Amino acid sequence: MEKKLENQVILITGAGGGLGRSHALLMAKLGAKIIVNDPGVSVDGSGQGLRPADETVSLIQQAGGQAVANYDFVDSFEGAQKMVGQALESFGRLDAVVNNAGILRDGSFKKQDTDQWQKIVDVHLTGSRHVTKAAWEIFLNQKYGRVVFTTSGSALFGNFGQTNYAAAKLGLVGLMHALKEEGSKNNIMVNTIAPVAASRMTQNIFPPDMLSKFDPAFVSPVVGYFCSPACQVTGQVWSVGAGHVARVAFVESEGINFNDSNDMTIDSIAEKMGKITQLENGKTFTNVMEEMAHLLTGK
Ligand code: NAI
Repeated sequence: MEKKLENQVILITGAGGGLGRSHALLMAKLGAKIIVNDPGVSVDGSGQGLRPADETVSLIQQAGGQAVANYDFVDSFEGAQKMVGQALESFGRLDAVVNNAGILRDGSFKKQDTDQWQKIVDVHLTGSRHVTKAAWEIFLNQKYGRVVFTTSGSALFGNFGQTNYAAAKLGLVGLMHALKEEGSKNNIMVNTIAPVAASRMTQNIFPPDMLSKFDPAFVSPVVGYFCSPACQVTGQVWSVGAGHVARVAFVESEGINFNDSNDMTIDSIAEKMGKITQLENGKTFTNVMEEMAHLLTGK
């Protein structure tokens, strides 16, 4: 196998199992040195253990690769700083971070309490912010960096019982869009995957015949691409699973323009519903300034 990630140092959060372990094993095989972060919690974030991260490190080392274990929690900024510090101490540099760590605390909005909301936001959104922030100055100074966020189809399209998770996961897309504007001048590429994969997180959600189609090995090569010097896209969300790889984007319809606000009535808006909502000829925008020009000109 060609060592496409030779000498790259990559921090992967939640790499003690599931998708994170799959990313770690693949990227180590491609020559990267990996910081395997995982505090070994259960799917709902409770408990703690060294074994998941240690096992991933052993698997990498048995295959001839290089890795170190880290057991800190992403939802602590101090923890995030320690992970990044460990990359520098162990391997002398840091080239990419993969924000993969995650938990679930599902429940309908009616039943969800504030702790259930907050913990999910803390781990997925704030945790990804902490780890990326801890690495950011290094990336700016070396004028190179790769950041991967992990969102979800639940956030992009909706899912019953996951309002906390969907909000946190879509927050990552907003974080990516703004951050890519701050990173692009310094060759820092920031992208997001929306994976579907068989893991302990999905084993009780997907039926067995579906699980067999969603091997994490179909997701990790995209993460490898986003983490590589070859990656020249930024600010993209790619849906990845079962061998399918596709871009997901916000699309704004052609829309309509009123010249006089007095013409904007409940009836006239209702009448033009078709033109407002129809996405054929819709546009995507690189940033908000482009979108504002579209608002003003209708073009
Ligand atoms: P998993 O439960 O196998 O792996 C998640 C890992 O994150 C665990 O090893 C856990 O110990 C670790 N973790 C949890 N809280 C942490 C914290 N505070 N700090 C550091 N590590 C922590 O689940 P899976 O499926 O591999 O999920 C990986 C990511 O992909 C998650 O962000 C998940 O939300 C996301 N995802 C997964 C999908 C799937 O189909 N498996 C679908 C959409 C998104």
